[in-house]
Amino acid sequence: MTGFVPASADRFGTAFVESVDPGSGRLAPRAAPETDAPVLSLDGDWRFRWCAGLHDLTDGFEAPGFDASAWDTLAVPSMWQMHDLDGAAPYGKPQYTNISYPFPVDPPRVPDANPTGEYRRTFTLPAEWPATGRTVLRFEGVDSAFAVWVNGVLLGDGKGSRLPTEFDATDHLRAGENTVAVRVHQWSAGSYLEDQDMWWLSGIFRPVSLLHRPEGGIEDVFVHADYDHRTGRGALRVEAPEGARVTVPELGIDIAAGETARVAVEPWTAETPRLYDAEVATATERVRLRIGFRTVAVEDGVLKVNGRRILLRGVNRHEWDPDDGRTLSVETMRRDLEVMKRHNVNAVRTSHYPPDRRFLDLCDEIGVWVIDECDLETHGFDLSSWRDNPAKDPVWREAFLDRMARMVERDKNHPSVIMWSLGNECREGENLEAMAAWTKDRDPARPVHYECDLEARYTDIWSRMYVPHDELERIGRREEDRCEDPVNDERRRSLPFILCEYAHAMGNGPGGLSDYQALFERYPRLQGGFIWEWIDHGVRRRTEDGREWFAYGGDFGEPLHDGNFVADGLVFPDRTPSPGLLEYKKVIEPVKIRIDPEAATVSVANGYDFLDTAHLRFAWRLEDDGDPVADGVLDVPVTAAGEATVADWPEALAKAAASPSEGERWLTVSAHLAADTAWGEAGLELAWGQAPLSAPQPTRRGPLAAPVQTADRIVLGEAEFDGRGRLTSLGGIEMTGPRLDVWRAPTDNDRVAWGMLDLASKWRGRGLALDRLEHRTLAVEAGADELVVTTRLAAAGADTAIGAVYRWRADASDRIWLTVEVAPEGRWEVPLPRLGLRLAVPKDLDQVEWFGGGPGEAYADTRAAARVGRFRSTVADLQTPYVFPQENGSRIDVRWATLSGGGRTLGFLGDPTFALTVRPWTSEDLDEAKHPHELVERGELYVNVDAALHGMGSASCGPGVQPQYQLEARATAFTVGISAAAGR
Ligand code: GAL
Repeated sequence: MTGFVPASADRFGTAFVESVDPGSGRLAPRAAPETDAPVLSLDGDWRFRWCAGLHDLTDGFEAPGFDASAWDTLAVPSMWQMHDLDGAAPYGKPQYTNISYPFPVDPPRVPDANPTGEYRRTFTLPAEWPATGRTVLRFEGVDSAFAVWVNGVLLGDGKGSRLPTEFDATDHLRAGENTVAVRVHQWSAGSYLEDQDMWWLSGIFRPVSLLHRPEGGIEDVFVHADYDHRTGRGALRVEAPEGARVTVPELGIDIAAGETARVAVEPWTAETPRLYDAEVATATERVRLRIGFRTVAVEDGVLKVNGRRILLRGVNRHEWDPDDGRTLSVETMRRDLEVMKRHNVNAVRTSHYPPDRRFLDLCDEIGVWVIDECDLETHGFDLSSWRDNPAKDPVWREAFLDRMARMVERDKNHPSVIMWSLGNECREGENLEAMAAWTKDRDPARPVHYECDLEARYTDIWSRMYVPHDELERIGRREEDRCEDPVNDERRRSLPFILCEYAHAMGNGPGGLSDYQALFERYPRLQGGFIWEWIDHGVRRRTEDGREWFAYGGDFGEPLHDGNFVADGLVFPDRTPSPGLLEYKKVIEPVKIRIDPEAATVSVANGYDFLDTAHLRFAWRLEDDGDPVADGVLDVPVTAAGEATVADWPEALAKAAASPSEGERWLTVSAHLAADTAWGEAGLELAWGQAPLSAPQPTRRGPLAAPVQTADRIVLGEAEFDGRGRLTSLGGIEMTGPRLDVWRAPTDNDRVAWGMLDLASKWRGRGLALDRLEHRTLAVEAGADELVVTTRLAAAGADTAIGAVYRWRADASDRIWLTVEVAPEGRWEVPLPRLGLRLAVPKDLDQVEWFGGGPGEAYADTRAAARVGRFRSTVADLQTPYVFPQENGSRIDVRWATLSGGGRTLGFLGDPTFALTVRPWTSEDLDEAKHPHELVERGELYVNVDAALHGMGSASCGPGVQPQYQLEARATAFTVGISAAAGR
């Protein structure tokens, strides 16, 4: 062959990029515990050059004498694509794909356009750095492949982005100044194993350090700290180099490495994260450990810790920071855990890679159960029918095993880690089986998890994703469909079950959480699950005039992307809790409070797995129409985990409850932290229950007024209508509408449905065209005491319609009453988005008050967190800024609401209740916008007074709205009262 030179990576000394080998020149993986041996952090500013690909590398950049003074500086740790995104974006931009690889699938080859970062820095070895022993260069995480030189000498290379890598630098270091150079490639063979649903980002994104390793020091330790719940004793054995001593002063333990001590201990659990400080020492090194005693076991078909079944109230956590990508500060990690614990979350799956190791220290300390998941996903092969999937190709075996070993060795001493997960969505293959086998051998004390092991052949827990409620119930009863192989079937049927992902928290939702939780609580086999996912991975941006917004897939001009599917978390990108998290908090509350007004008692069922209720204090509050009547504390005897107590109402409550009620009376009992904890302050509410003590007040209606017709309008009480029967003002307040409204800006769950026709497309389809219905007036008739307006809603080209008859009445209270009779015509095979009235009112009526469900938004299947009370809000604060604009902000079960401002008040009265939405833009505006900052306030406010809304479900990934929360199109009627008054 002539004239053609293959573009060989070898030419640039980077053959390792496309090699399936996990690395070369690396040290064996280990736990690397905290030590008294010298450590030098190499974090900080490094010299940096971004290269377009392997053809663009800098010759000799690793040489100590190389002059990099003209290069940029870049912080280590950081991700290079996250820099200056509102400016020049000098190092490329983030790209988001869910399943697809963002390059041609041709394993292990990667594109020529392989952005590469060259990093250099010098450091001075401190004068007191020991001359003996070894010195190790440690990288906690580099995405995705890198090679390292010290003083111009190549130490080795590595892959496995979210895993540590160590090199021995001893022989190449010198006293005084040294140079370290690192070349990092965005794409490598390793990228085929890292196809997680997230932004593709690169760089040295976790800390780098130089560690002294003393001779006779402690390279590694493996703590085995079990707890025997029958005896209350812990058993401690620490594998460490021979001759090392293990001391736990608080327990009086002083044993040799390898020996076992058995002593009475307080066990570690996620609810009681008791840690003991320990030291392992040789003559030359001391390492510090924090030991938690606990035993994880699968027994009697159930996952147990310390002999008790646990219930996982979990979340899937990706590492995300809207400014820094996957580089997280310790403060951010702690904040995640605090926000989780404050919202009753007790478990984290580290989807889909081991987190920064410091996060696990915090999990031990603050207390959450962790499924530690390996950095492994090959989902993109799904798009080519799993042809060439690395999971089943022996060529990749070592890379798979290497990843598992690096995770297990690093994290094996964390009590919070109760399961190892092989990775995510690699389908099945011998390489995964080999990982499982290695793991069980290395650490028999933790179950192995992997969701794609469909028949649970090599895993210890049966795990699935997004299972619908009815199937989950069958699994709960151990009546699931059979496995193909009867042997597997029998074994799998004996295993505990978890949902490693469920309830896709994308946009408004997820719906149906309460129904899932009820199943977890009913069937011991169902041990809870992990919401997908913790945080929206939005990238923080600013408009030219300084307004903040969050970018998602496609916002960086990526040719291939998966849009806002990356924004599917329980907290917004800035970590503000979303309504979904507030809902989850209520659904998974650790104590259940039930009020029995007849018996005048409150029962408290303790749903903790270990804790009694001594850390809680209970309070009661009585309100009439949301106005405070009386409150006090409730003494609830300390109740053990899993037990329930019934407490009598205190005298003050009984007395207050017996007083005549001024409106609808509700009793609320709540449970609060009695004292400060690591994650919440005394007084923080964790659970609550409510009960009505009186029936809703009937609405009084006076004698009816007669409509008066003039040449161009109709007057009915305080209301004025135009000749076509449309309300134009009430009590002097101008308005447009109300008119029947069935549309909502589709939610992500309405809109996104992988592989299926989504609901929003059906709504918009020609047959229905609910987004462009036209209203036509058929008749306006003024009767003796009512005005009847007959209308029909239909869209151009559509073969369905909705008949709507408006019956207007005015009573002596100056209120007008509107009853709407709705009758769908034609074939309706899909649910309606909403059914209610929309009207436009003056913009200054922007102070909203209501008595009903609140304080936050709630829909048919996301309503657990809405309590009955009196709430106030500005219109602005009623909006939920979902990263992708969609229906939001509806308040449920509203008995009455007022909108005030400019000295006027507009009131709405339910018959008995309605759902309320008030926004400064229309549903159509919401539908049109792609980001919240594109929404422009109009000159009016748009009020929706809804009889009902279709639920939220979780169809953006998972089951849709369950039948009981669907809004069926059928003949119905609803009524609302409207009044206008001067004042406020
Ligand atoms: C799952 C996957 C997650 C995420 C989720 C949808 O199949 O494991 O990584 O992609 O779907 O958001």
